[in-house]
Amino acid sequence: MEKRKFYIETYGCQMNLSDTEIIHAILAGEQMIRVEDPAGADVILLNTCSVRGHAEERVMKRLREMRSLKKKKPSLLIGVVGCMAEQVKETLFEKEPVIDLIAGPDAYRELPQLLVSAGQGQKGINLLLSAEETYADIHPVREEANGVSAFLSVMRGCENFCSYCVVPHTRGKERSRDPSSILRESRDLFSRGFREITLLGQNVNSYNTVVDGKPWSFAKLIGEVAEISPLLRIRFATSHPKDLSLELMHAISAYPNICKSIHLPVQSGSNVVLQRMNRNYTREHYLEKVETLRRVIPGCGISTDILSGFCGETEEDHQATLDLMEQVQFDAAFMFIYSERPGTDAAITLKDGVPQPVKERRLKEIIHLQQRHALSSNKKDIGKVLEVLVEGVSKRSADHLFGCDTRNKVVIFPREDKLPGDYVRVSITECSSATLKGRINPVSKLDNPWKVGNIGKFIF
Ligand code: 5AD
Ligand code: SF4
Repeated sequence: MEKRKFYIETYGCQMNLSDTEIIHAILAGEQMIRVEDPAGADVILLNTCSVRGHAEERVMKRLREMRSLKKKKPSLLIGVVGCMAEQVKETLFEKEPVIDLIAGPDAYRELPQLLVSAGQGQKGINLLLSAEETYADIHPVREEANGVSAFLSVMRGCENFCSYCVVPHTRGKERSRDPSSILRESRDLFSRGFREITLLGQNVNSYNTVVDGKPWSFAKLIGEVAEISPLLRIRFATSHPKDLSLELMHAISAYPNICKSIHLPVQSGSNVVLQRMNRNYTREHYLEKVETLRRVIPGCGISTDILSGFCGETEEDHQATLDLMEQVQFDAAFMFIYSERPGTDAAITLKDGVPQPVKERRLKEIIHLQQRHALSSNKKDIGKVLEVLVEGVSKRSADHLFGCDTRNKVVIFPREDKLPGDYVRVSITECSSATLKGRINPVSKLDNPWKVGNIGKFIF
């Protein structure tokens, strides 16, 4: 019998990419195969994001485009899954009649059943959030991965309730995945040739579980994954500043193959705004964490998220953000304009009062400053020799490869005889604010002490 074909598009964050791999595995278990062209599919799924209004608008536009496909093939089933399903709920059916099924982030196991019902003409919906579901037993299918780096979810949900954020409402309670399944999957990835694993969670520092009566923190988990092989690089995202522990910093410092890079969203440099955001730290606490981080892990790459134009943000608050950026000098940042999300505390209790042109001007200033800092950070690398894990062929030139150094900086260099998955030493010769460029230099001494191949019990 011919296999049914499904097509899936992913919106939003790395967590969603990881969820798409889980959905792929669930549907493959039903003898369905993934296709790259929606025109040939029997089922189309959009794995959606709700963090900003813009992401939702893109999905609605895409659904309208899909009306013509459904007209041509009336048996086609179209589903909306993920955060937007959870956020917009049943009203999605009214907003866009082309939708046949809706499933929230904890309902992916129900997709086969929802597809059967939808095939019989019954629109299906499952938005139940679970306190336990981690999909630990499902082996994700990593089709979009480059064969070198993989994402692996170690926990789901978030209970921080930052006042602007929809995630606690769409992804439910925080739960940590069983470490034995994480280690099994990591070993399997390494044996299949993957050389970098990014451990994912909304707030990985809250990872916490008990094995044989003993507590497992995230620091313990990351150390165990690092011990799999000195040739396996470990990254993780995201850390909440209020929970970033000294124990975790020491684990990062102890293992050369745990990457010296941390994503530490600050959101704002103003204490008044941070309090309104319910972030549970002050600007001073944040700066202290950064100082400790740089003391425990010298040269550590630090990236952040910054929100511009949150409710009641004054010019003075905005200047405080720019000032904090000057003090920290982030290597990279994701910068956004605040967009009100229905159902969040900010939407219910605060006024989204900063005019759009002011939000845009402030964002521009933030981006401009960040580009200056990234460029000056990259300029300091010229003349250094960095260890780079090759990830693939550069988009701009087939003669060049690209990869990242331990701080997650992108490095581009002539390919010579190297392949994705190789570790190479690259002498840096030039840079822009976004990338470093150089050439392979196999005999030179590395300019950082984090050579992969010298970890914990393995001394190479
Ligand atoms: N508007 C704009 N950006 C947001 N983020 C979260 N919620 C919103 C919102 N309502 C950003 C934060 C977070 C990142 C994942 O998305 O900066 O760290
Ligand atoms: Fe949202 Fe805050 Fe949780 Fe991050 S920590 S997912 S910003 S509520």
